[in-house]
This record gives sequence, structure tokens and C-alpha cells, in this order.
Amino acid sequence: MTARAAHAIVTGAGRGIGAAIAARLAAEGFAVHLAGRTAAALEAQAAELRAGGHAEVHCHALDVTDAAQVEQLFTRLDALCAAPAVVVNNAGISGSVPFHRMEHAHWQSMFSVNVDGVFHVCRAAVPRMREAGYGRIVNVASTAGLKGYAYVAAYVSAKHAVIGLTRALALECARSGITVNAVCPGFADTDMTAETVRNIVDKTGRTESEALAELTAGNPQGRLVQPGEVADAVAWLAGEGAGAVTGQSIAVAGGEVTP
Ligand code: NAI
Repeated sequence: MTARAAHAIVTGAGRGIGAAIAARLAAEGFAVHLAGRTAAALEAQAAELRAGGHAEVHCHALDVTDAAQVEQLFTRLDALCAAPAVVVNNAGISGSVPFHRMEHAHWQSMFSVNVDGVFHVCRAAVPRMREAGYGRIVNVASTAGLKGYAYVAAYVSAKHAVIGLTRALALECARSGITVNAVCPGFADTDMTAETVRNIVDKTGRTESEALAELTAGNPQGRLVQPGEVADAVAWLAGEGAGAVTGQSIAVAGGEVTP
């Protein structure tokens, strides 16, 4: 790894897929910056990484919907490096409601975190990466960015927007040494999916295992995706060797979505 390729930011790194990505990038030798809303969760994750021998782990409590807080993170990093080599936009929220009962506030909350959050982070990262002549941006979208699902119209629309941004920004940055890609997990084994299962149980009266079976039925492998499997795809896109790969949306979903 070159000196300028040393720092990696992961948003929503306190748990789930983000925590797995941060651990994977630390194992690759990056100095990792864990960013997210809950300081205690970030610190717990950082302590685990440090105990595993990764000395360069930093925590940044922030809300990705707040542009000023995001800019502050990048300003702090300016003291450490010309630009972060890798930025992973993983922070996200999901929620379900039938469209005919959807309030505008629900729609806005899905866009605020899942789209505006990615915008704010990319907006801060891209000028610095352009200046450095190098960068890897990876957006954690979803299979919901590639196909529709019932009862999650706002989430699906927001994740489609993330893929649109990925494609457009990749073209704009194509001659700047910056790649911009998305990974699109299917239902993954995280707290977010556990909440989805609880929601189905509450709303339909199905058992937990019936609800889980409903989610895994959409995956041809008949299982949840593991966070580490998403992290492996991100690590590849974050590496120098993936320099010719840009504007892509790679499904990590057991074959649920095929081109
Ligand atoms: P999770 O709910 O376990 O973790 C999400 C993390 O993002 C949490 O640490 C949370 O605190 C953080 N976060 C949420 N809003 C934030 C904000 N405004 N500012 C900063 N941090 C914030 O979710 P999971 O499953 O690890 O998901 C990670 C990403 O993967 C999300 O973008 C999600 O949409 C996406 N995804 C998840 C799938 C799943 O089945 N769990 C499937 C496909 C995509």
C-alpha cells in the first residue's frame, strides 16, 4: 500500500456490515476511521480491533445527515493525510410501511440517511481525493437498489438513488484516479434484519422462523448473507488492483439479482 493509500473511513461502523468492513480494512493494513452515531458502539468496536493488533483505529461520533459534522471529520483527517484513500458509505436505515399509509416524514427519513448522508460524505471526500489524484469510494446500497420490494418503497427509492449517484459520480471522476462503486447485499445477518423479522412477526402474527424463512426464500442460496461476505467485496473494490472497476453495482446476494 502506498503512503497516501493509508486511511479508510467507514460510516455506520459500530455494528453489522459496517463493523465487518472496518475489521476487514484494518486487516488489509489501513488506518481505519470508524464513524457513526453511537460513540459507545464505535469505541467497543475499536477496542476489539486494537486488541486484535490494529493500532491505527480512530472513532468519530457523527450523524451523516449533518453536513457540518461530516466536514469536521474530513478536516480532522486533513491533519493526518492528504485525503482518505478509501471511503465506505455504509450508514443506513430501513423501514417498511404500505405506500398508501406512508407519511412524508418516513420518505424523508429514508432519503435523509441513505441518500443525503452519502451525498455529504462524497461531497467532502471527492475534492480531497481529486487533489490527491487517488480514491476509492464504495457505497453500500442494497438489492433494493436494483429491484423493487413491496412495502419498502421509500427505502427502495433511496437505494436506487444511491446507485444513480454511484454511476454518475464514477463517470465524473473517471480521469481523477477515483473509483466509485456500490455493493448490493441481499438480506444480511445483522440487527437491521433482526428488526425486519420482529416487524413481520408484530404485523402478521407469523412466528420468527416463518418470518425469517420468508426473507431467505428470496435468496437462491436460501440463507442470509454474512457481513463478512459484504466486507470481502468492499475490500476488493477498495484495493489498488480494482482501479479499472468503476460505476458498478455488485450484488452480494446469493444470486437473487442477476444482470
Ligand atoms: P445496522 O442497522 O446493523 O447498522 C447500521 C449502522 O449505521 C448503525 O451502526 C447505525 O448507528 C448507523 N447509522 C444509521 N444512521 C446513521 C446516521 N444518520 N449517521 C451515522 N450513522 C448512522 O445495519 P446493517 O444491516 O449493518 O446495514 C448496513 C448497510 O447495509 C445499510 O446501508 C443498509 O441499508 C445496507 N443493507 C443492509 C441489508 C440487511 O439485510 N441488513 C441488506 C442490504 C443492504
